[in-house]
Amino acid sequence: MASKLEALEQWVNQAAALTRPAQIHWCDGSDAEYQTLVQQMLADGTLIELNQQTHPGCYLHRSHPSDVARVEQLTLVCHPDKDDAGPNNHWMAPAEAHAKIDALFDGCMEGRTMYVIPYCMGPIDSPLARCGVEITDSPYVVANMKIMTRMGAAAQARIEREGSFVKGLHSVGELDPARRWIMHFPAELSIKSYGSGYGGNALLGKKCHALRIASHQARSEGWLAEHMLIVGIENPRGETHYVAAAFPSACGKTNLSMLIPPEGYLRDGWKVWTVGDDICWMRPGADGRLYAINPEAGFFGVAPGTSDATNHNALKSISHDTIFTNVAVTADNQPWWEGLPGTPVTDWQGRPYDPANGPAAHPNSRFTVSAKQCPTWSEMAEAPQGVPISAIVFGGRRPSLLPLVMEARDWTHGVLMGAAMGSETTAAATGAVGVLRRDSMAMKPFCGYHYGDYFAHWLSFDRPGAKLPKVFHVNWFRKGADGKFLWPGFGDNLRVLEWMINRAEGRVSGVETPIGILPGEGELKLDGLKLDRARLDELLDVDNAGWQAELSAIGEYLESFAPRLPERLRQEQQRVARALEDDA
Ligand code: GDP
Ligand code: PGA
Ligand code: MN
Repeated sequence: MASKLEALEQWVNQAAALTRPAQIHWCDGSDAEYQTLVQQMLADGTLIELNQQTHPGCYLHRSHPSDVARVEQLTLVCHPDKDDAGPNNHWMAPAEAHAKIDALFDGCMEGRTMYVIPYCMGPIDSPLARCGVEITDSPYVVANMKIMTRMGAAAQARIEREGSFVKGLHSVGELDPARRWIMHFPAELSIKSYGSGYGGNALLGKKCHALRIASHQARSEGWLAEHMLIVGIENPRGETHYVAAAFPSACGKTNLSMLIPPEGYLRDGWKVWTVGDDICWMRPGADGRLYAINPEAGFFGVAPGTSDATNHNALKSISHDTIFTNVAVTADNQPWWEGLPGTPVTDWQGRPYDPANGPAAHPNSRFTVSAKQCPTWSEMAEAPQGVPISAIVFGGRRPSLLPLVMEARDWTHGVLMGAAMGSETTAAATGAVGVLRRDSMAMKPFCGYHYGDYFAHWLSFDRPGAKLPKVFHVNWFRKGADGKFLWPGFGDNLRVLEWMINRAEGRVSGVETPIGILPGEGELKLDGLKLDRARLDELLDVDNAGWQAELSAIGEYLESFAPRLPERLRQEQQRVARALEDDA
């Protein structure tokens, strides 16, 4: 039998035979290696040096203008049986998919270096962590993977010990959208990505492995791989509760995970600890609670809107040793985007800034930074056993109807809330922005199998001995008649988190409504906030007629997953619909 190391070498040799690189570099993950790559990318123009006085160790990468976001229509989940991919995924038969993409890979690395990147998703000694190896011809990808994952020698040692790893083959190819595919083969634990250098398409440890492949793996192994931030909320008594929250891309995960408490809370001694900003792997512990790890080691955050007022911690984190992608620059060569003070002189494509060309920074411009640079980085993020989760939160961009916060009456209702999630689309994926679409558990682009089976998997966690977190739904994005957000959001979201924790601890009773439990009179702490009564009432309003229409739309949506839609979920939708009718 081939040794475990040989299995890895064999696969690397196969990939090299197909792509025919001039040389192969095995990444050790060292700082020296990173610096060498940076120097090489500065020399060939892949990276541009930013102002090293104000931003030491910071560089700018300008991507191809047609390669700035995830491409959902080119992202495939290739199960042998089409039904297993579900209507939520694009599918191609594995043999056909391999043939199509291998034809593109054929000789694509000629004259270039092939990098072999062993990485570990999660603390290197965690039983919840999983390893992978990405092969790529992009030094930009290597540098980003070094920041985003535990990459290099330690991961390779774990792979050699365990034998199993996710295989990811990537090439930037010609960066031609007509020659671009992001393919997943869950049954083979493998990913093939061609023709894009963009984060979600090219940093294969992230969405491809930690969500699409891992969600499928998690189903068979009894855990959950979710598109969730993880944040620790420490109250003045020194008790910390961990909350996991699923919002679609560019809907506030990074911001919530690093929020700064409002002034009154700070005075009282509240603290917020960042465990993760995008992905959460969780599994029931011996005590029946769900324990979560953040599989990542860095943040790949949306730059626009990140400011001292909205996300001071992110801004602090990215003041040094950060890779910026598609941001603008100022006259003194500092990175710039909409929401920052100062003026851009060069836009994200390197042109002199002209407002007629649109925003200076691309709306999906990003920063890549080590999580260790975040002032609120939690030491529990390194804990191999993970952190116990007290509350699970779902939410999206809903300009109307959805209240600021509501709580599910039980787990089944919580799964319905997650499945029913909707949100306006954002610039994180190509296509129209601001269109309402269903995005169950914020996993529409990331669930590696049939949503009907996924809902059933979620429901299966409700079993004897389980001590499940309470489930909530939030909406920071409800708008008033004036078209402005009703809720101030950002740091003030802690007020809503405190209510959730009070609910989890049984300290407040809430008010039952047909759609769930809402905060009772005086239960949301609003002191120090300029929010008039009328706006608060609007934020917590339950419009019965609007909700009846919503429930019928949810019912229709759920039926699109029949015959795999769990009957329990169908009945739960019917229960809420009836409760609304009875209350009309
Ligand atoms: P992620 O992609 O889910 O991590 O989302 P981010 O945290 O990067 O936020 C995406 C965008 O939503 C940014 O422009 C933020 O400024 C904005 N945003 C985040 N949180 C809030 C909030 O509480 N209220 C409002 N109005 N906007 C927010
Ligand atoms: P995010 O993810 O927007 O959820 O942070 C990055 C991506 O879309 O690739
Ligand atoms: Mn984010």
